[in-house]
Amino acid sequence: MTVGRSMFEHKIKIAPSILSADFANFGQEIQAIEAQGADWVHVDVMDGHFVPNLTFGPMAVKAFRPHVKTVMDVHLMISPVDQYIDAYADAGADVLTAHIEAGPHIHRTLQAIKGAGMKAGVALNPGTPAESVAHLLDLTDLICVMTVNPGFGGQKYIDMTAKVRALRAMIGDREIHIEIDGGMDPSTAPLMAEAGADVLVAGSAVFRGGSVQNPEAYGDNIRAIRAAAEGAL
Ligand code: DX5
Ligand code: ZN
Repeated sequence: MTVGRSMFEHKIKIAPSILSADFANFGQEIQAIEAQGADWVHVDVMDGHFVPNLTFGPMAVKAFRPHVKTVMDVHLMISPVDQYIDAYADAGADVLTAHIEAGPHIHRTLQAIKGAGMKAGVALNPGTPAESVAHLLDLTDLICVMTVNPGFGGQKYIDMTAKVRALRAMIGDREIHIEIDGGMDPSTAPLMAEAGADVLVAGSAVFRGGSVQNPEAYGDNIRAIRAAAEGAL
């Protein structure tokens, strides 16, 4: 695992979102993206309430776990959150991220995620300011900056450069990842890397043109995003 405090790394990490994978074939899709260079595997959980789309719950996530050899990064787009935290811990999430907008008690939610033995992430919708996490930094291992309104893959990138710069300054030398989620491709990833992000989620830009029969396209896509991002540093 590269996410632990003792192994905290600032280098660019590409986290393909399996929201863009073949839903009938998650096991092989996960193995294919990891074999092709994915650093983390990003799992988008949607409840049809916090966001207008539905994906999978803890039983499905638990079934993905044996296929994930890197870091299973679970992004909860659900409300309420707290009653499901133990289920995602049992499912084997390494990082569990909740939205600050999902309820009035994000501080308690982050405490509970850490208490259940996972790394705690907090996600910010595009309309939520950087300052909203100022009093959460000591409980947070990852801040996920949404660069689309959550709910769907393949949406147009919304620029959040100023927010990412503000977060990077606020974080200082704390070991907190800045993750970017939405519309990441070789043209947008450099903006976010240069602003201070280190984890880049990409769904459509990783899976396009590939399949488990043609996994080399995944590798080409991952390398293109990584090279563009590293080129900005
Ligand atoms: C959006 C999800 C993202 C999504 C990204 O609600 O949280 O992880 O899969 O997809 P792309 O990379 O296609 O914007
Ligand atoms: Zn996501």
